[in-house]
Amino acid sequence: MFPVGIITISDRASQGIYEDLGGPALRTAAEGYGWQVQAEVIVPDDLPAIQQAIQSLSAQGCGLILTTGGTGIADRDVTPEAIRGIMRVELPGFGEVMRMKSLDITPNAILSRSLAAVVQSSLVIALPGKPQGAVECLSFVLGAIPHAVKLAQRVPTSC
Ligand code: MTE
Repeated sequence: MFPVGIITISDRASQGIYEDLGGPALRTAAEGYGWQVQAEVIVPDDLPAIQQAIQSLSAQGCGLILTTGGTGIADRDVTPEAIRGIMRVELPGFGEVMRMKSLDITPNAILSRSLAAVVQSSLVIALPGKPQGAVECLSFVLGAIPHAVKLAQRVPTSC
């Protein structure tokens, strides 16, 4: 089983202007899937801060890193750019499935640039900022996560 790191990406949550609901929602979901949450952090919508948080959780051994927030089109939304700046490879299928399945729930799903990528030896999945949306999107890509984490960690595995 792989340790999980959770990063809430939000200017206002990081300043304490409002309570972080996305991180705890993802923690509950992750624990419900039987995963062990090793670390939870909150960072502002700041590209270097996001990259530093991802690299730090990866170095701490988190095989799966879930981020929530900053995937949209607001001026400060830079989560995809931050991940693409440090990733080894992107896994476009994750974003495609998250948007496609979420469209059955809300037409606004098309506004999310959610994605997944391998950073160092971790699978990073960038989820939307709305807590329910983040949990929903995670559920849509669940089936591929264990195998993808093993591949990211270079664990010998068969398909
Ligand atoms: N996906 C799901 N499944 N459920 C949602 O409620 N919200 C959408 C979209 N994806 C949503 C969703 C909305 S309203 C936006 S603006 C984008 O995600 C981007 O959100 P973010 O900028 O908070 O990451």
